[in-house]
Amino acid sequence: MESTAGEYFGARVREYDALIRACVPRYDEMLERLVAYLPAGAERILELGTGTGNLALAVAGRFPAAQLMLVDAAPEMLAVAGERLPQAEPIVARFEALELPAASFDLVTSAISLHHVEDKAALYRTLYGCLRPGGALVFADQLLGRTADLHGLNWEAWLAHCRLPGHCTEEQTQSFLDHAEAHDHYTPLEEHFELLRAAGFVELDCVWRNWIWGIVHARRPS
Ligand SMILES: C[S@@+](CC[C@H](N)C(=O)[O-])C[C@H]1O[C@@H](n2cnc3c(N)ncnc32)[C@H](O)[C@@H]1O
Repeated sequence: MESTAGEYFGARVREYDALIRACVPRYDEMLERLVAYLPAGAERILELGTGTGNLALAVAGRFPAAQLMLVDAAPEMLAVAGERLPQAEPIVARFEALELPAASFDLVTSAISLHHVEDKAALYRTLYGCLRPGGALVFADQLLGRTADLHGLNWEAWLAHCRLPGHCTEEQTQSFLDHAEAHDHYTPLEEHFELLRAAGFVELDCVWRNWIWGIVHARRPS
């Protein structure tokens, strides 16, 4: 097992786009919905965990004149995203080590990436600080169910989806489970809200949900 989540994804860059759709139910719908909830008028946008650029492409489609900064720990992933989005600024970095200019982004977006960060309180303070007043943080991610039973149901639904004919091999599914054990830090929705509120965010909502996946909306007050 690779020692960081970035190394895990970097090693799978060629198969990533097919694999993510095979293992995340309604992946494209989730990205489309996230983009639909982005407030209008963004000029400067930060994306965390760009991967091959699937969300960033949709965001660029909605805000064609905006400056995009794309952050990912895996240089292999950012190389693919960079080819698809040559106008964007790629930054190879871990989220935990990011130093961002204060009050300089209108939007922060992310998909299926923030659960790799253990200290979300610190991350949310950093993201709040880099947003302009009125700016929004909108991210899709894997959430911990409110109870062990609810989480178990979500988890089994995910594994059943992976094991559908033509989706993932048993070896791939096992590698997701090993990856989750080694690198994932799931947080319940309620705790996300508490941490976001403590960082100063308002207008907290979960605007879409499907099994373990959800989209969270938060805003820095104007
Ligand atoms: C599951 S992929 C999601 C990619 C893309 N957002 C999508 O929706 O397809 C997670 C991405 O986050 C990156 N990543 C994971 N942990 C990270 C960290 N701590 N710092 C920076 N990037 C990280 C990985 O390299 C990977 O490209």
